[in-house]
Amino acid sequence: MSERAVRNERYLVTSALPYANGPLHIGHMAGAYLPADVYVRYLRMRGEDVVFVGGTDEHGVPITLTAEREDKEPQEVVDYWYAHMKETFSRFGISFDNFSRTSTPLHAKNTQLFYQKLKEGGYISEAESKQMYSPTEGRFLPDRYVEGTCPVCGYKEARGDQCDNCGSWYEAYELIEPHSKITGGPVEVRETTHLYLDLPKFSDRLRAWVAQQDHWRDSVKNFVLGMIGGGLEKRPITRDILWGVPIPEPGFEDKRFYVWFDAPIGYVSSTMEWAEFAGDPDCWRRYWQEPETRLVHFIGKDNTVFHAVVWPAMLMGTGESGEEPFILPHDVLANEFMNLEVVINGVPRAMQMSTSRNLAVWLHEALDDFPADLLRFYLASILPETNDVNFSWREFQERVNSDLIGNLGNYINRTLSFMERYFDGKATHPKEPSESTREALADFRELEQRYEARMRAGRPRDALGELLAMGRRANRFFDSEAPWQSRKVDPDEARETLYTCSVLLGSIAYHAAPFVPEAVERLGRFFSGPIAHISDLEALPDAYSAKNAKPLFRRVEDAEIEAAEKRLSDAAEG
Ligand code: MSP
Ligand code: ZN
Repeated sequence: MSERAVRNERYLVTSALPYANGPLHIGHMAGAYLPADVYVRYLRMRGEDVVFVGGTDEHGVPITLTAEREDKEPQEVVDYWYAHMKETFSRFGISFDNFSRTSTPLHAKNTQLFYQKLKEGGYISEAESKQMYSPTEGRFLPDRYVEGTCPVCGYKEARGDQCDNCGSWYEAYELIEPHSKITGGPVEVRETTHLYLDLPKFSDRLRAWVAQQDHWRDSVKNFVLGMIGGGLEKRPITRDILWGVPIPEPGFEDKRFYVWFDAPIGYVSSTMEWAEFAGDPDCWRRYWQEPETRLVHFIGKDNTVFHAVVWPAMLMGTGESGEEPFILPHDVLANEFMNLEVVINGVPRAMQMSTSRNLAVWLHEALDDFPADLLRFYLASILPETNDVNFSWREFQERVNSDLIGNLGNYINRTLSFMERYFDGKATHPKEPSESTREALADFRELEQRYEARMRAGRPRDALGELLAMGRRANRFFDSEAPWQSRKVDPDEARETLYTCSVLLGSIAYHAAPFVPEAVERLGRFFSGPIAHISDLEALPDAYSAKNAKPLFRRVEDAEIEAAEKRLSDAAEG
């Protein structure tokens, strides 16, 4: 791959840290991982200095609830899912530079340091609040552990914070006959003390900062400005729970930091771990403390408040003393949601993915059935960049067979097999490029620019649209030049056509690589010549060659789709 000598910026890219309590599904990929990976792969190809970090989020109620349900220790749960997720990410080609976890000692230390700095800055206060307590279990219960009768409609199995029957929101202590979801025993109201982050103190700075972010998505910017406009409130950063990062304050031995306080700090911890592994332990600072760095967070929309309001406030408050200044996010790329299309008795229905109902397309299972590239391609083509979308197995088959194979794969195949069949696998530089060659190259340069603009804006789905336009343009060139005719009357002309086709092929492969990396790597084994951005080539190469070329992608068959659809409809009905 060609590398540009000039480096523009430095990038630190993050994907949300998934809770280590269950398998990854395609919704996770669409929201936070695939767009980040495609973006990062592109930046690396362009020669940018980029570090991509991730890891598992291993604290909080999501983990302890799973542990109790499965009668395991939280540590057992997170150890299992950390390994499972790490492997699934790698099978799917998510190219993290480091994949850490929030249960490391380094991370606990960092969380406590952030807390100390915020406290020194005067941003932490203490307050009492009412909380549900279980005398039989001898502990405070988080809302999600409490059930009772809805104070509004009388529904008997209302959750601690919201009624599933009438939708009302309330405090857990307002429930009638509240009881523990785990033991069924009675619970009572008690006073408890917590630490709070003083968000209101950051209102003005946050508003001024966000207002300047002209490149942010409107959805994210409006969300944040709306929230600040409505008045920020102090937020509790501790919980009555024993699983999490300990709080360095007397009287807080039975409490831990709230999972959303420590989780984003996990990005810093993962970068520090990366630096350590890279043998340059201090170089994480370049990525977090030097203003040239662009810090880019990829998340699903439900994570927006934490990444675009609370986390920037934490970074502002920590850096003030001047000792540990942190940069602020350059962009928070919050994606909308991916839902499922489930076909029941021949009728497609949109449904939300649900881990508890086992209603999802689990990534590790999908990867048992299909090559990662096919799944990546389809998911990338429907990324929820601007609106919620539905994953449909039928559409997966259509997109793969018609766009990936019918358009891109077909172009690569016909070019290489023609070259091998009639020109001994070689295409050489013509003396004088024809008018049609010049036109095709000019169109490609324009498409490359459009692709690049979309990719740099963090919109891989739109960049993929430009890649498909390149495929169509290249196929049109092949068709209109009709080398199968010209080779009989004017072999030189056919040779020139094949040469131009190879240049276009190199560009298509280059721009396809972030989406279907494995296929492009395989292409390199039977195609030689630059796989490159045309606009970057100083001079076109003398020759291209191909040997033993094989199709890069396999078709998706009807029977496979029927089986996959059936698994979903069974889960939806079961
Ligand atoms: N642990 C938090 C993130 C902490 S980041 C410091 C979390 N974990 S999660 O496992 O529930 O989700 C991981 C990511 O996937 C989140 O960014 C979430 O928004 C995203 N998505 C989960 N389901 C999704 C869809 N169905 N569609 C799009 N994104 C989705 O949240
Ligand atoms: Zn109700």
